Amino acid sequence: MKRILFFLLALSAIMLITACSKNDDFDPDNQNSDEIQYDGNRKILVSYFSATGNTGRLAEQIIAATGADAFRIEAAEPYAANPYDDSDWIQNESYNNLRPGVAALLDNMEKYDVIFIGSPIWWHNPAMVVCTFLESYNLSGKIIVPFFTYGATTYLQQSLDKIYEVTPESLHLDTYSGSGSVEDWLRGIHIIE
Ligand SMILES: Cc1cc2nc3c(=O)[nH]c(=O)nc-3n(C[C@H](O)[C@H](O)[C@H](O)COP(=O)(O)O)c2cc1C
Repeated sequence: MKRILFFLLALSAIMLITACSKNDDFDPDNQNSDEIQYDGNRKILVSYFSATGNTGRLAEQIIAATGADAFRIEAAEPYAANPYDDSDWIQNESYNNLRPGVAALLDNMEKYDVIFIGSPIWWHNPAMVVCTFLESYNLSGKIIVPFFTYGATTYLQQSLDKIYEVTPESLHLDTYSGSGSVEDWLRGIHIIE
């Protein structure tokens, strides 16, 4: 009995260590960090998808600090008010790299120089509707700034990589790491002075 208990304890410890080390996947130095200088003439858009409000709240902070225009991305076929009720559907979209339709697109994307793109992490990726949105435009040469909210940073790097994948011709600035103020981050990437 003691042996079985010891075995189970050891197994739990190994599983815990594995889970913790997976959380270290995100390495800020592994981002596509293009360098820009501050330029007050840039036109900035904060586009985001948010199901339960967390990403929307982060978007509001960015808008307040930058004076950017806002665009809320919505899915053509809305998710349940509690998106966990649609977990299987969302998992299928993520795991199969699907492109759900967007309810509406922005007409005048060409006028923006900087495009913040925000999303919850949903099943290890950005909400796939965000990819549909980005792929609807020619974003060549635009400055893309991804930001996410999530339960754990486990899939932050994978989510960033997905944004890079769907905006291959764009410049990319560092994402918000979740520590420090939003203003400090924006100053650090030379979006505000
Ligand atoms: C279906 C579903 C899948 C999720 N998958 C992940 C995930 O893979 N990794 C993670 O860290 N958080 C995950 N979360 C948590 C959300 O990313 C987190 O709650 C986020 O802040 C929600 O943003 P929102 O309030 O803007 O919708 C998931 C949430 C839902 C509903």
